[in-house]
Amino acid sequence: MTILAPSLLGSDFKNLERDIKTVEQAGAKYLHLDVMDGAFVPSISFGMPLLKSLRSCTDMVFDVHMMVEEPARYTDAIRECGADLICIHAEACRHLDSAVNQIRLTGAKAGIALNPATPLSAVELVLPLVDMVLIMSVNPGFGGQKFIPYTLEKVRSLRVHLNELGLNTDIQVDGGVTLENAKALLNAGANILVAGTSVFKGDAGKNVQQFLEIFEKYKKESLRTDRK
Ligand code: DX5
Ligand code: ZN
Repeated sequence: MTILAPSLLGSDFKNLERDIKTVEQAGAKYLHLDVMDGAFVPSISFGMPLLKSLRSCTDMVFDVHMMVEEPARYTDAIRECGADLICIHAEACRHLDSAVNQIRLTGAKAGIALNPATPLSAVELVLPLVDMVLIMSVNPGFGGQKFIPYTLEKVRSLRVHLNELGLNTDIQVDGGVTLENAKALLNAGANILVAGTSVFKGDAGKNVQQFLEIFEKYKKESLRTDRK
């Protein structure tokens, strides 16, 4: 399934509930929540208290992207705040296998994120354990950056490799995703697109609808090619 995950980081922090309801009503299924610790990435965003308080204002899937050193220290607490999917960075874990298993024990879906320059081989051995791989298409830490073009090929290679392994793992792309590059990302094999600025800048409801129209068109086109 193709999913849009608006990133809360791009929203108006004075009006979080309003912005969440806008994207939910427009049809977005995931809410991407960027937790930053000021150590793994330069910036500090928000943490458990905010997640917990937002949980009651939406039914969207809470997709928590932890940009945190040794995230296993916090995965139980993040789950308790209502996370449905917990994604940790391979680069931030000394014991990646153990950290992934710890997420799985909470009952949440598990994801592993890779920075742009981290090769796919970093996640190879734990691929069968995860529900999602997040390919970062900017260096993590800030919204509003430009998409790094070579990451598109990384998405393509990962999808080919997952197919070879017979795995139907989700591939999420995060950073600089726009209405212009969305189709190329889907074609490359991504199925969850995170979008901060391109959703929340301007009319968020309309932007979500435009992303969903692209997804719908892509679905129709791929059904047609499958039939050929
Ligand atoms: C960046 C975050 C992203 C960010 C994306 O480190 O992980 O989720 O909000 O923002 P845009 O879509 O503006 O690049
Ligand atoms: Zn993110």
